[in-house]
Formats: sequence, structure tokens, C-alpha cells
Amino acid sequence: MQIPFSESQTRLNLMRAFAGESQARNRYTFAAAQASQAKLHVIEAVFQYTASQELAHAKVFYDLLKELNGQNVTVDGTYPVEVLTEVLPLLRRAQHNEFEEFDPVYPQFGEMAAKEGFSQAAAAFRQIAKIEKTHGERFGQFAQWMESGRLFASETPTKWVCLNCGHIVESTEAPHSCPVCAHPQGYFIRQAYAPYTMGVTQA
Ligand SMILES: [Fe+2]
Ligand SMILES: [Fe+2]
Repeated sequence: MQIPFSESQTRLNLMRAFAGESQARNRYTFAAAQASQAKLHVIEAVFQYTASQELAHAKVFYDLLKELNGQNVTVDGTYPVEVLTEVLPLLRRAQHNEFEEFDPVYPQFGEMAAKEGFSQAAAAFRQIAKIEKTHGERFGQFAQWMESGRLFASETPTKWVCLNCGHIVESTEAPHSCPVCAHPQGYFIRQAYAPYTMGVTQA
């Protein structure tokens, strides 16, 4: 049985999620600029790519509020302050926040939505929770490579893609500068992690 949306906990959770996604998008955009300053363009790209997905999540949650068009929804919430200049802690904080959304925040919101009879909202929370897990894992993977000095190096020959021109090199280390477009090493990403590549296995 569905309760009135205007009296539901789900409308508050949707607004919290919209606020959280909107803030995440901004935090990742700021983090991308920090990574760019540090010449870690691959990390910049990861933050930008993820920021654009947070925008998409924000829209899903926002659209589910449309029944309350023209009204205000008052919520309280807990949101992180992470004004950091170093890239590695930015990655680790982002990982932490993504995993928190994956479990427990969005599953709890999803359960409440199901209980209140809002199946579309329940599905959105459950599906987006799973995406946040992949975000957390990707941030964690890049943090781990940074920590172990393997952001641009690998023990086994690996395909590296220049994020500027698309040139692919197979080597245990990404080139110090791209032989095609001369962009620096900071632009190289493992092909398995490059968006839009097909049929590659992770090295
Ligand atoms: Fe998100
Ligand atoms: Fe996310």
C-alpha cells in the first residue's frame, strides 16, 4: 500500500540523495582541478567521469520528486567537508563516501521506499547503490596504484592509452611523453580502465 508522497519519508530521502549527489558532483569537479594542477590528468579524468555520473544520479532522484513541484522540501543531513589539496587523500575520501552510499545509506533508503510503496524510488536507490560501489572500487584502485608507485607502471606488459590522442602503447611503463601528441605521462591510463574501449582484459 502506498502512503501519500507528501507525507512520506521517501520524499525526504530523495531530497537528501539529490543534495548528496549534487555535492559529490561538485566535490569531484574540484578534485579534478586539483589533480590537473598536480599533472595527474588520468585522475582528473576519473574524477570528471564520475562527476558526470553523479549528475545523472542527481537527475534520477530529482525527477522522482516531481509530484512536489513548486513546493519546498526541508531536510537535514550529514555531508562531508573535504577541502584537500593532495590527490591521494581526495581519492581515499571519495572511495569512503561512495562505499557509504553503497552500504548502508541507499539500501536503507530503498527499503523505506519499498515499505512506503514507492517501487520506482526503491529501484533507483537499489540500482544507484550498486553503481556507487563501482565508483568506490575505481577510486580505491587508483589510490592503490598511487600508493604503490604503479599509476604509470605495471609488473607485466600492459596496454596504456593516451587520454589526449588515443595512442596505445604496450609496455611495463607508460611513456614519459606520448610519441604521437607529446602529452606527458600523466595522460596515460590502463586501457582496461579507459572509457569506451572494447574487448580488453584488465592488466
Ligand atoms: Fe551517485
Ligand atoms: Fe558515485
